[in-house]
Amino acid sequence: MDKQKLKPKLAEASLIKEVEFLRSEIEKHNYAYYVLDEPTIPDIEFDRLFQRLLALEATYPHLQTPDSPSHRVGAAPSTAFLSEAHQVPMLSLDNVFTEEAFFQFDHRIKQMIDSSEEIEYNCEPKFDGVAVSIIYEHGVLVRALTRGDGYTGENITQNIKTIKSIPLKLKKDFPDYLEIRGEVYFPLSGFEKLNQQALSTNDKLFANPRNAAAGSLRQLDSKITAKRPLAFYAYSAIYSEKNLLPDTHNENILRLKEWGIRTCPETAVVKNKNEVIHYCQQLLSKRHSLPYEIDGVVIKVNNIALQESLGFVARAPRWAVAFKFPAQEEITTLESVDFQVGRTGTLTPVARLKPVRVAGVVVSNATLHNMDEIERKGIEIGDTVIIRRAGDVIPEVVKPILEKRPLGTQKIILPTHCPVCGAKVVRLEGESAAKCEGGLSCAAQRIEAIKHFVSRKAMNIEGLGAKIIEQLVNAKLIENVAQLYTLSKVELLQLERMGDKLASNILEAIEKSKKTTFNKFIYALGIREVGEATAHQLSESYSDLNSLMQADIESLESLQDIGPVSALHIYSFFREPSNQNIIHQLIENGVHWPSKLEKAKNTDLSGKTYVITGTLSLPRDEIKAALLARGAKVASSVSKNTSGLIAGDKPGSKLTQAQGLGVPIIDENELKLILSKTE
Ligand code: IVH
Repeated sequence: MDKQKLKPKLAEASLIKEVEFLRSEIEKHNYAYYVLDEPTIPDIEFDRLFQRLLALEATYPHLQTPDSPSHRVGAAPSTAFLSEAHQVPMLSLDNVFTEEAFFQFDHRIKQMIDSSEEIEYNCEPKFDGVAVSIIYEHGVLVRALTRGDGYTGENITQNIKTIKSIPLKLKKDFPDYLEIRGEVYFPLSGFEKLNQQALSTNDKLFANPRNAAAGSLRQLDSKITAKRPLAFYAYSAIYSEKNLLPDTHNENILRLKEWGIRTCPETAVVKNKNEVIHYCQQLLSKRHSLPYEIDGVVIKVNNIALQESLGFVARAPRWAVAFKFPAQEEITTLESVDFQVGRTGTLTPVARLKPVRVAGVVVSNATLHNMDEIERKGIEIGDTVIIRRAGDVIPEVVKPILEKRPLGTQKIILPTHCPVCGAKVVRLEGESAAKCEGGLSCAAQRIEAIKHFVSRKAMNIEGLGAKIIEQLVNAKLIENVAQLYTLSKVELLQLERMGDKLASNILEAIEKSKKTTFNKFIYALGIREVGEATAHQLSESYSDLNSLMQADIESLESLQDIGPVSALHIYSFFREPSNQNIIHQLIENGVHWPSKLEKAKNTDLSGKTYVITGTLSLPRDEIKAALLARGAKVASSVSKNTSGLIAGDKPGSKLTQAQGLGVPIIDENELKLILSKTE
């Protein structure tokens, strides 16, 4: 919202009222969205409220308060985090890994309290994130610390305020002083997006969601933290006044909920040790479908009086224990690396590992993403590596353990030629992906290449959809685009669900497509970085196919709008013998287009410039292509140099402009006439 638009002298009382209203509305919607997971208003409406609040606070700074939701966008960057002491130390938990060990824990407690009665426990997931302590004074979030060494942590208040599932203000009936503890975590969906983005921008990947959460909280610029989709679950509350304490841990959790703090719905009270085991088994089976990572179950004695009588030993409570799940990370040896070629020609390095069990599954292959990641992590063949398997995501090699590097490890080298088709592999500077240049012939890329070739803006073979192409390739009836032109009806009829009529139609469309234009043909080849515009430019710049195929990099780069990357791709594409071979087969099989000479003879639109407006029955790009093929230019705005305005229905302002400038108006019938005369 524009500051100037605000009236400068809004009455103070009504201003305060509006600001308070906005804050409570915004927090209400935030709570519904981030804590309850039940959005109440459309995003755009929410943004409107938020922008209005930001504008009011910017115009009237004296209205700013520490609990305003405006803090959620982050504050000015700081230079360092300050260390501060925890009022109550943040302790750790003892671990158990087996049912037996947990039963011993249960038995010890019974011995200590000299009772044979079953103990009630509260079970909750052990979240794999970052532990934080958050302090509310009079219901307002005033301070947040990391766990640190358990006694002192770092003040990360600004960053914590950007996490929308953490209330800046508590709902009613809260104690004057309250400390809540819980885990900040990185939801898995957000984590995958974060790493995908990092891959595409060539940034460093985060090894796991926990590192991503820690890294995001450690940002000195809280505006960066605000952009990360961090979330929070609280798992304990500490009061200033002991007499406020409820009887059980679970009641405490329920109170947290009432104050508007997010707690985990998986939390459950169980009656005895056997039910604990049952809970652990259930949660383990759900582990990979949860939207966040967990590494076990935290089991706490539910009764708080009992907790207090049990007390602590060293740095861990006697009344709680972590039942750890199998690790998602393991150590093994990288035996070799193969390169897989994807459907679009990208080479992905795949680690072949000494088989190892990770979270219940034997893993012998893992992705290494790309060469940049390998170089960044410094992984070599023979290394001892950490591998990680999370949910359904493909296992990945996290990093080598350099201290364990044996003698004689070998560098991982990108193959110079495609392991599938033998064409050259090109990895351009600044691009992380290495690509096979055998686009037309490579078996790994076959289906995509043919789909592109037949598409509307390329050879426009109607009726030949993705399904049929896949069937044709899988039945080994075609291996490349040139073989489309030798397909017979008998062959087509071998396909499932292929009738006589459809087969005839397809063959007719294939036949029709033989007559094309130079620019459509170039586009259809599917050369990297060569879209319609570049294809058109190439067709205009080279007199025929031979001269295009022989063009050197310098000549290509000298063309307007063709940069070094496209030039290199075009050059390497035509150097590839298998691509040359398929191009020759295409021509031999009858694909043709008017030569430049013929075109010049037949074209009487060269030198003319048209503008297209309104709705026409033909798609606009087809009209454009038809005009361009006849030597005309197509512009986007009308000027006195426009030769004609091609106007369909609802032509808008261009029509009046053209009329004003005396530019001829051409309707659809006239256009058809012009095109037929000049073909
Ligand atoms: S209770 C004294 N509950 O585990 C009790 N901790 O080893 C201390 N953690 O750093 C913690 N999920 O970050 C508790 N549901 C949960 C937890 C949990 C994860 C982490 C916590 C702490 C570590 C203790």
